[in-house]
Amino acid sequence: MGAFQDRDVLTIADFSRGDIEKVLKVADEVEVGGKRRGELPLEGRILATVFFEPSTRTRLSFESAMKRLGGDVVSFGGLEGTSVAKGETLSDTIRMVEAYADAIVLRHPQEGAARLAAEFSSKPVINGGDGAGQHPTQTLLDLYTIWDELGAIDGKTIALVGDLKYGRTVHSLALALCHFDVDLYFIAPPTLQLPREIQEQIKARGRDYKTAERPEDLIKDVDVLYATRIQKERFPDAAEYAKVEGSYRVDLEMLREAKKGLIVMHPLPRLGEIAPEVDRTPHAKYFTQAHNGVRVRMALLSLIFGVVS
Ligand code: NCD
Repeated sequence: MGAFQDRDVLTIADFSRGDIEKVLKVADEVEVGGKRRGELPLEGRILATVFFEPSTRTRLSFESAMKRLGGDVVSFGGLEGTSVAKGETLSDTIRMVEAYADAIVLRHPQEGAARLAAEFSSKPVINGGDGAGQHPTQTLLDLYTIWDELGAIDGKTIALVGDLKYGRTVHSLALALCHFDVDLYFIAPPTLQLPREIQEQIKARGRDYKTAERPEDLIKDVDVLYATRIQKERFPDAAEYAKVEGSYRVDLEMLREAKKGLIVMHPLPRLGEIAPEVDRTPHAKYFTQAHNGVRVRMALLSLIFGVVS
């Protein structure tokens, strides 16, 4: 049995460097569009996507990945997440869904929801985002994109920009990058810096980082500029959001100073963080990143279902 078979994917902190490299390697070998007759490794398997928060990419790419591997999907989504925000109700939901599927992808507004679900499910639970907590599968596709575009992760200078406080994608990515020899910068207004617990975890992993307030100050040095949306829905107070709304914007003017090979990434959806004219430049990799989501999730599902080891 491979190390991944039947494994829950709750936080990227559970992934060693070897685990990450394994997923990237399998993802690289996946034939996304090349499904042929007789090559349906997940035929007869069912994935449940249980989403209590909005999603476009995560849900669709998981569903596409499952179907491209010959499997099936059942879906459950109540966008008014608050009606199921109580742990007790979630555990009942999960007990029901585990009878209908062989693995569950869960997105939920409460931090820790995926871990709770995993306690109630005998089937593997994949965290598709838990509040301001973690988003491990996004991180795997982010790392795949850096590796595929730049040929390596080690040796790169990587800046995470935007809402580092509430953004779960950067919480996961920052921890994962501790496995690599990278120069890390966290760029955010002081009120949106990375939570202290995560900063401490990074230090506990023997890694260093620098902080800054404006991407302009560092743009000349970075290989990867990872922009994020300010997570309006997680602010307890609208006035606090108003203070930081639109606090930065990556545009052609800023990129004039950039390294030639700089890649601009974003988990999407973007609001004003990246000007549309950046899309036409060779720096723009956010749509590639979203496309890579299918390949990476195909790899992960193949490993969890044990058809690849
Ligand atoms: C992100 C999320 O849901 O955390 N979206 C995604 O999965 N690609 C980022 C966001 O909502 O800003």
